[in-house]
Amino acid sequence: MGHTAAVEPTILSPGIRTFKPRRSRITPRQARALASPGSHLLTRQTLSKAWESNQPVVLDIGFGSAGPVVELARYFPEQTILAIDVHTPGIGDLVDRCSSEDINNVFIIEEDVLELVPRLPGSLTGVRSFFPDPWPKARHHKRRLAQSPVIDAMAKVVEPGGFWHLATDWPEYAESMIEAFSSNDHWSGGSIDRPEWRPLTHFEKRGIREGRPIVDVWFTRN
Ligand SMILES: C[S@@+](CC[C@H](N)C(=O)[O-])C[C@H]1O[C@@H](n2cnc3c(N)ncnc32)[C@H](O)[C@@H]1O
Repeated sequence: MGHTAAVEPTILSPGIRTFKPRRSRITPRQARALASPGSHLLTRQTLSKAWESNQPVVLDIGFGSAGPVVELARYFPEQTILAIDVHTPGIGDLVDRCSSEDINNVFIIEEDVLELVPRLPGSLTGVRSFFPDPWPKARHHKRRLAQSPVIDAMAKVVEPGGFWHLATDWPEYAESMIEAFSSNDHWSGGSIDRPEWRPLTHFEKRGIREGRPIVDVWFTRN
């Protein structure tokens, strides 16, 4: 069977990846969770389950590790969080936490969001992307998540009045996000104070440790 990625519709040019190759060694606990994931782990075929409860669905792109998703699920019990990443250990962690702590408003999918978004079976009330890979070198800017073609594609799946909340520890990336959203008629917003409920994430801690300022931005779908 051939590799199908090149023929599937995606948002950026085929072959452009927004994620970095990362160590994917998984712990025995993560492996056990992935071997019997229960109802939390979805696939493209079962994705519509995330919309079955009729709660608003918020997509968490590149959640990385379980803790912040679990905190948000508890803080916003009226939301269903669809957490997506390509990083298997993080997927295993979140499946484990959701099963062992009986968290019922989180679904998880291991996919490239750029391939999944054009195929979502329902609309989104919001999107969160905390500390997306910054790709600071100019020649890598084409790999950034928050750039015009992605912002445009998200506008098609986020309901009017819905939101996209991002945070970054690269001020230049924040500026380029604001510029890209501002030149798109579907979104309004800009930088905001860090909401007190936003969990501190792993990559945020690293940014703070390395002395970088944190910027939150919030855009509303017009
Ligand atoms: C820098 S980490 C941030 C993780 C976490 N949000 C945090 O703040 O600690 C970026 C995450 O986004 C994921 N990611 C990047 N591009 C992605 C894509 N196209 N689809 C799904 N996940 C992606 C990476 O695998 C990684 O886990």
